[in-house]
Parts: sequence; C-alpha cells; structure tokens
Amino acid sequence: MANVTLRNVRKTYTGGFEAIKGVNVDVADGQFCVLVGPSGCGKSTLLRMVAGLETVTGGEIDIGGRVVNQIEPADRDIAMVFQNYALYPHMSVYNNMAYGLRNRGMAEAEIKTRVEEAARVLELSAMLERKPRQLSGGQRQRVAMGRAIVRQPKVFLFDEPLSNLDAKLRIAMRVEIRKLQRRLNTTSIYVTHDQLEAMTLADVLVVMNGGQVEQVGNPLAIYEKPATTFVASFIGAPPMNLMSTRPDEIKSQLGGAAGEAGIVGIRPEDFVITDQTPAGGVALPLTVEAIERVGAETFVYGSREQEDQRVAATPGELPPGEIIVRIPGTEAPAIGQKIRVAAVRQKLHLFSGDGRKRIEA
Ligand SMILES: Nc1ncnc2c1ncn2[C@@H]1O[C@H](COP(=O)(O)OP(=O)(O)OP(=O)(O)O)[C@@H](O)[C@H]1O
Ligand SMILES: [Mg+2]
Repeated sequence: MANVTLRNVRKTYTGGFEAIKGVNVDVADGQFCVLVGPSGCGKSTLLRMVAGLETVTGGEIDIGGRVVNQIEPADRDIAMVFQNYALYPHMSVYNNMAYGLRNRGMAEAEIKTRVEEAARVLELSAMLERKPRQLSGGQRQRVAMGRAIVRQPKVFLFDEPLSNLDAKLRIAMRVEIRKLQRRLNTTSIYVTHDQLEAMTLADVLVVMNGGQVEQVGNPLAIYEKPATTFVASFIGAPPMNLMSTRPDEIKSQLGGAAGEAGIVGIRPEDFVITDQTPAGGVALPLTVEAIERVGAETFVYGSREQEDQRVAATPGELPPGEIIVRIPGTEAPAIGQKIRVAAVRQKLHLFSGDGRKRIEA
C-alpha cells in the first residue's frame, strides 16, 4: 500500500521537446487516479516516468514516502498493464502469470498460491492450462491483469488497457477493473483518452492538456465546475456549448467581472426547448440542422440566428454557430424548424475570454 505524489514533474525528451511541463498530483493510498486527455498530451510519458521506464528531467516522484527518481523499475514495487499486453503465446495461462515471479526466484508453492488466487478473482480458474490463442480478447486482458496482480505491488499502473477491446467488452472490463481495484484496494494510476472511462473509474480525475494539468479532482465535481473551457469541452459528451459574450452581458446576466468579454458555457442537457426566457438565464433562437436519436434521448443540432453569432474562437469547441441540445425520449422538432431553447441561470458556466479561468458569479 502506498500513496503516489508527483512534485513539479518535468520531462524534456532528447531533441528538446518538453512533453511534461511541471505536474503536481497527489494520489492517496488505495485511490484510483485516472489521467485523461487528448492524444499527445503526455499521459503515457507521465505514467512511464512513475514506472521508471523514462528518466525524469525535473521534480520528484514519490511512492510510499520514498523518492524513486533514481530507483530501477524492478525495485519500485509497481506493476504495469499496457494496451499491448503481449502474453507469451507458447506458455499456458498459469505460466504466463507465474513467469515474472519465477524470474524473481519465488518458491513454486508460493507462486501456485498467488496464481490460483488471482485466477479465482479474475474467473480464470478453469482456463489455467490454455494457451493465449485459445482465449477471447477479454480473457487475455484478464490474464494480463493477473500477471500484475500476482506481483502484489504497491501500485498498479494502467496505460489504455482496454483500447484493443470492442465496445461491449470495454464496458464489461471497465466494471471488472473497478470491482477488482475496490477489492484489492491497491493504489492505481490509469491512463485513458476516453472521458467516459475516466469519469466512471476515477476517485481522482486528472485532466491533462499539452503536458500540463488543467484540473484535478472528483470526477463529478469537475463535471459540475470545469475550471477551463478545455475541461468543459473535454469532459462530457456531447460537449458543453461555448459562446462568447460581451462585457455588458456578463455584467447584466451574470454579475461577474465587467469590462471584459467572456465565454458562457451551457451543457446540452441543460437546455430546454421553450418560448419562455428564464429570469437571469439565456434564451436562443435556433434553426434545427440535424437530429440524432440514440434511444433514450435525442441530440438536436441547431444553428443560431445571425445576430447571435458570437462564438468563442477557442480551439476544440463547437463549429461557429452550432448548438447541441440534449432532450429525453425520441420526440424531436423537424429539421429546418425554428425553435427557441433556454437555460436557467444556475446552469450557466462563465469563463474568462481566453477560456483559461472559471468565473464564479
Ligand atoms: N521518445 C520520445 N521522444 C520525443 N518525443 C516523444 C517521445 N515519446 C513521446 N514523445 C512526444 O511527447 C508527447 C507526449 O507523448 P505521450 O505518448 O506521453 O502522449 P499520450 O498522452 O500518451 O498520447 P496517446 O493518447 O496518443 O497515447 C507527444 O507529443 C509525443 O510525440
Ligand atoms: Mg499514450
């Protein structure tokens, strides 16, 4: 059991590229921490530094009260599960799990106890004599987990362990990993670019962007109060609608810092189709451009009227003028129809004009 603390961790690759620009994260003993962010933001780099597979350019990595910067991977008491978990094809499931322990010179009796216990937890007991090719993708993934579990490490590190699986199996394995982690109570750091996986697995969510941490916290707290427009549009699907707003509007509608243009964010589910304008809230006329029915709910894509084209030019957001509205059920307006949507004051998120700061009104 161990906490993991990253203090101002930096990584510059040979050639001068700065992949990690000073990261601070504190994972308490037994917690499940998820690093999430777009491709190339530095998630794997950071995880590999914790594992000892990359050198640390600056700062400190502390596992269980011990700075491990100079400690060999094998001596860090961690176990890592990768996307490409590469089981040994010629070895049985049992031997795949036993391999690392034998390398450490552990007695066969102890190995047997550990492998059988891991197999029981992972529901692989009936498959110990099979070869990897005789297993399904999900079963192979569980063997890879088993290899990590038998080590009884202080910390599990996962790098996109589910991304090779099909959608249904991903969800099943996601639930399994979380149950397993609760049972074993082992501190874990898990990397994914999938915000839904991140939301559902994390005790502590770390949203990364361009080698830096954008926000750290409880996943629902981040969903409810994203600190930047990047987090607002990355966490939640479909993404939050973001619109630029004039200083006078901020002042009159939101009572925030006047004199500066800002960005207003509204989640798709916080809009309702109505002709009313809620006091202090926002109402927009829209022309319906597209409808997506996904069963329990429907996504309405609308374009805003000309006089309402005040869209933030921050990258990674909605195309200019497009608004997504999420309504329950399957009943929806027709394409081409003009509608009005509104959101109440409490559902508005306000950010500084550059999107870097949340403003609490
Ligand atoms: N060995 C290396 N030398 C130089 N640059 C590297 C090296 N490894 C990674 N990078 C760069 O560092 C940045 C972060 O890479 P990293 O693999 O950590 O991203 P990631 O967040 O894991 O992305 P993905 O979701 O695609 O796996 C990228 O811009 C990448 O090109
Ligand atoms: Mg990666």
